[in-house]
Amino acid sequence: MSENPATPESAAPDAHAPEAHAPEVAADEARGLGSTAVSAATPRRGAPMFPDGTGPAADPAGSHHERRIRSFQPRRSRVSPTQADALRRRWPTWGLDIDGLSRIDLDAFFDGLPVVLEIGFGMGEATAQMAAADPGTGILACDVHTPGQGNLLALAERNGLSNIRVANGDAIILLREMLAPGSLAGLRIYFPDPWPKKRHHKRRLIQPEFLALATTRLAPGALVHCATDWEPYAEQMLEVLSAEPTLENLHSGYAPRPDFRPLTKFEGQGLDKGHVVHDLLFRRRAT
Ligand SMILES: C[S@@+](CC[C@H](N)C(=O)[O-])C[C@H]1O[C@@H](n2cnc3c(N)ncnc32)[C@H](O)[C@@H]1O
Repeated sequence: MSENPATPESAAPDAHAPEAHAPEVAADEARGLGSTAVSAATPRRGAPMFPDGTGPAADPAGSHHERRIRSFQPRRSRVSPTQADALRRRWPTWGLDIDGLSRIDLDAFFDGLPVVLEIGFGMGEATAQMAAADPGTGILACDVHTPGQGNLLALAERNGLSNIRVANGDAIILLREMLAPGSLAGLRIYFPDPWPKKRHHKRRLIQPEFLALATTRLAPGALVHCATDWEPYAEQMLEVLSAEPTLENLHSGYAPRPDFRPLTKFEGQGLDKGHVVHDLLFRRRAT
């Protein structure tokens, strides 16, 4: 695989990639919405998915904040009619393109709620469950994956959740350019792409430089919660999080799985393969 894969449809980075959008598309097709799926969901390569500007941008940061090494695999996936509909209707109020050009006013965006950033929500089922269980916390859910963005917006709407906002683009640019220091009440990273091949380890999200940046955006006492089913990545997470001086581990080593974290889609795939899941819970120190 090249450093910046030129072929968006190329294989996903690991054994159980966050794919499987086919069921949603199949359900829409069964309801007679199949023809919309093809035109809304499979644009020509290079063509914007929402040419009228109502949905997420294809490349929100353009080239000004380009990062050469990315922790995600650029890919184009089919957006089902339900997802496309949610994106068209909800994006203008609940969506945010990560263009790296201005600071976000989180108070205004979340009506004053404390805000937790979730990086890499995939299809968003666990995100929606956590938002429903804790309506007093806003979740800024960030991913690059358009079908997942549409799915999460549809879930939020269907379940009457007003505490979710969806950010489209690279979380590093969001943290670096668009979030104020000390503005987050928490950070969640569940089952980040493990990039198992040694030559791809540099693509892993949880690295010392990433954490040095992310912790500056956390308020004192903010919780950092990570989980993975990839043992070598769990070891790397524990090492990197433990070495970050502004964080303290709430447990000695890995944390017991907290009740408040629902099973995620990716986690289920890992468990089916017999993988062991590790949670890590750290807190931002006061100074
Ligand atoms: C392996 S999936 C896990 C999804 C979900 N948390 C779960 O457990 O089912 C990782 C997700 O992180 C996203 N991702 C990776 N790097 C990212 C970044 N820098 N910014 C935003 N999203 C990212 C990918 O697009 C992908 O959807």
